[in-house]
Amino acid sequence: MEFSIKTLSPETAKAGCLVLGVYQEKELTAPARRVDQAAKGRLRKAAADFSGKAGSTLLLRELPGVAAERVLLVGLGERASFGEPAYRDAVRGAAGVLKEIGAKDAAFFLVDLKVGSRHLTWNVRHAVLGLREAFYRFDEMKSQKKAPASALQSVVLTLSPKPDLQKALAEAVATADGADLARTLGNLPPNVCTPSYLADEARKLARQYKLGVEVLERRDMEKLGMGALLAVTSGSQQPPKLIVLRYSGGAKGKKPIALVGKGITFDTGGISLKPAGEMDEMKFDMSGAGSVLGAIRALAGMKAPVNVVGVIPTCENMPGGRATRPGDVVKTLSGQTVEILNTDAEGRLILCDALTYAERMGPDVVVDIATLTGACVIALGHVASGLFANDQKLADEIREAADEAWDRVWQLPLWDEYQEQLRSNFADFANIGGRPGGAITAACYLARFTRKMRWAHLDVAGTAWKSGREKGSTARPVPLLVRFALRHAARK
Ligand code: BES
Ligand code: MN
Ligand code: ZN
Repeated sequence: MEFSIKTLSPETAKAGCLVLGVYQEKELTAPARRVDQAAKGRLRKAAADFSGKAGSTLLLRELPGVAAERVLLVGLGERASFGEPAYRDAVRGAAGVLKEIGAKDAAFFLVDLKVGSRHLTWNVRHAVLGLREAFYRFDEMKSQKKAPASALQSVVLTLSPKPDLQKALAEAVATADGADLARTLGNLPPNVCTPSYLADEARKLARQYKLGVEVLERRDMEKLGMGALLAVTSGSQQPPKLIVLRYSGGAKGKKPIALVGKGITFDTGGISLKPAGEMDEMKFDMSGAGSVLGAIRALAGMKAPVNVVGVIPTCENMPGGRATRPGDVVKTLSGQTVEILNTDAEGRLILCDALTYAERMGPDVVVDIATLTGACVIALGHVASGLFANDQKLADEIREAADEAWDRVWQLPLWDEYQEQLRSNFADFANIGGRPGGAITAACYLARFTRKMRWAHLDVAGTAWKSGREKGSTARPVPLLVRFALRHAARK
């Protein structure tokens, strides 16, 4: 799907499909009014049968006086309440129909709408990401591929081309490419997407985008003393990896943003075995890792002026004769000892060693991304990712980026009172803190490994994938991470 930015006159544009906005009050947007005039009022008449609810659609064919083959009316909802959600609904609604009818090219006249106080670059980004998401397909594992992937070859965003809009377009396309990667890695089955597969994927990115890559093997972890990561991998036949992927697009010597992603390619719970229901979804437990690879692909693809280093601890969490037992005490890379009371709280175990490893690279800030706790899903559902930070400025930066990317987060506290829940009679502390505030105590555990850094933690357990009929990776929080990195590099 190729995107371009061009001014077109709606009535003479020879597009396969014009996409025009109409408010719920049947008020036509400016380009829709022009088409209506050329078609002698046919559009307004058709709009009478149309709800105009945000995202609703009505397809018209061969309007007299209009060069385009089809006209797609898209509802924008009530004029007074038009804003970010309605714009995004409209993009999704339009994308759904363009996909269904197999349109080859479209002229997208929704992009010049004023969306709250957002700049037109925001419209461009959300149009591209919305369309690309709607057209994403995953049929790599099907024996019969469906008809050719996407009929939609070109989309014109009808704006007058300006450098900032062209830049936003290039950024959005690269972000969509990064999101596609994260989505596909998440969707791949756990017998394919293993730690070794993720390491190969990182090496492939390194070749393609000239990135620095290093993969630590089990013996490297042993030499370093990553006792917590090694404890998680011990029940598995798959070799663990610690992937370090570096993109240096910013000034030489500028400290990198470190992105640390949880890469459990399958989480059975280990000896603290999970119940059978929906256990297949624990293939998505590497979504943090996928989002780091996706974000780095995006930033490298757009040649962003930032320095980023991705650190990805990846392994399986399996039961077995060599598996870690509840009650085992291990020594982490930081030197602190942990009593593993529940082997299903494995994410924090691989992350703590990766965070200590990241600290040694002297990052500017570090952000970890993890499908860490079921408790976070209970707290925030599937709408917001949990945000924790030991630096409020960093938390605010992340929240603003998240709002802009509509990849939203909600901050939860990291107060010391919660730390007490991690106390242990046998080691420095335990890896679980009981049911109350489970997302918070998990973050409190990580906080014990990040005291020397500006650090934020994103718990994406509720947002990284969808269950049920629509089961699949969402690619979150790739849009947020890309926005954050760009804004962080450009700040002041
Ligand atoms: N990967 C899971 C968290 C998870 C569970 C994400 C369900 C999405 C949906 C994590 O490794 C885990 O098992 N966490 C435990 C921690 C508990 C043992 C303290 C949990 O949340 O139950
Ligand atoms: Mn687990
Ligand atoms: Zn897990």
